[in-house]
Amino acid sequence: MNNHIGIVGIGVMGSNIALNFSDNDTNVSVYNKSQDKINRLISEDSSKNISGFTDLEEFVKSIEKPRKILILVPSGEATNSVVENLFNFIEEKDTLIDGGNAYYLDSIDLGKRCSEQGIEFIGMGISGGETGARTGPALMLGYEKEVPEDLISIISRIAAKADDQECIGLYEGFGTGHFIKMLHNGIEYAEMQILAEAYNILRTAGFNNLAASEFFNNLRKEKQSSYLIEITSSILKTQEDGEYLIDRIKPVANHKGTGKLTVETGLNYGFPLPSIFEAFNARVESNYQKIWPTPTENMKIELNPNELQEAIYFSRLSTLTQGILFIEYFSKRENLEIKIEHVMQNWLEGCIIRSDLLKEIKSILKDGPPNKSIVESKQIQKNLDSRIKNTKNLVSHCIENNIPTPVMYSSLNWYINSSSEFNPSSLIQAQRDYFGAHTVQLHESDEFLHLNWD
Ligand code: 6PG
Repeated sequence: MNNHIGIVGIGVMGSNIALNFSDNDTNVSVYNKSQDKINRLISEDSSKNISGFTDLEEFVKSIEKPRKILILVPSGEATNSVVENLFNFIEEKDTLIDGGNAYYLDSIDLGKRCSEQGIEFIGMGISGGETGARTGPALMLGYEKEVPEDLISIISRIAAKADDQECIGLYEGFGTGHFIKMLHNGIEYAEMQILAEAYNILRTAGFNNLAASEFFNNLRKEKQSSYLIEITSSILKTQEDGEYLIDRIKPVANHKGTGKLTVETGLNYGFPLPSIFEAFNARVESNYQKIWPTPTENMKIELNPNELQEAIYFSRLSTLTQGILFIEYFSKRENLEIKIEHVMQNWLEGCIIRSDLLKEIKSILKDGPPNKSIVESKQIQKNLDSRIKNTKNLVSHCIENNIPTPVMYSSLNWYINSSSEFNPSSLIQAQRDYFGAHTVQLHESDEFLHLNWD
């Protein structure tokens, strides 16, 4: 009997998704060059629904038509090479699903290449890491014509669920699933950096690791927690041989480039994503520390924990709003009609940025007028305004005491700048026109003029 779906690539994500499918009554064919890897996976498969193949042609033949094949190998060259090899064996109407962290423009190209061969293509962002893959990921699918009903049925069994709905997003456009995943990762970077800034503030206020862990754990009681906040609390109290693991880790952050693509895409569209930029830049800057002969001293501070709690909420909501505004803008620019409520449901569970805040925002947008921008929500502005005073107090206190808070500060600046009556960029126009005759626009007209500065 042929299998329901095939998976190429049984690394961390591939093997855990295969086990998730198997546990959910889906017969899975997996392909890998290594028989040992296949044997190890099958030995973990208590539901016995996984078949392994080291021969690609045999693998393809083992899948019921029209075939659905999920590719879970590193994005870029590796994925392209798998697709080229599969083209030798798959047939028209089969569907290839790229489940890697692909750049959304690459997914558009790959979709076009598949279409030329009569092959269906779906670019699917998968979020939730190893645990998510095994027990319930959030899935973000970009497609052109339609997503086969039997594929939706299969992935609905493995996806995370919230409010009695799967956390599956179906988005028009080969690359749109990976675009939404890219925004997820940009927001993820900012959320992680906000928590790193909070950790630094707590340390400088004299909180030891256990007390800092407790601070984050207490956010649950305020319904202001998240998956990242929960793991942060757990990380800070984890010890080995009587020593905190966090104290043994180098203060340097790396990345596989997912958040960098978000920043680059925002810049390419000329759209502001300051908090995500500052989060990415903080990772880069962490590789260039202590470059001066004399270190700057972090002075011990008096901390009002409520100010920090509100600054965390403010910065997270400011960042999320920036990200959602970019999705709104992208949707209009590319004529895609992406529904933000749909994205919120997609991210409600299973993904790395799942949180009480996303549940709150989904509920606010659901209760608000349809087809309005997030910035037209009076409730969301109220949620920011009610916390801006404490956020300013905290950030000012940090500046006075040499504690860097790049994402908290940019989140504050973005909100103030995007809601202020006056903006000093008129002087930038004037300077450019003065030295380079680059022309200016006057208030009363859209015409570009070169003014006489002599
Ligand atoms: C997810 C994660 C995952 C990503 C890691 C590492 O949604 O499960 O976002 O896709 O690979 O977060 O990303 P960086 O190496 O870019 O930090």
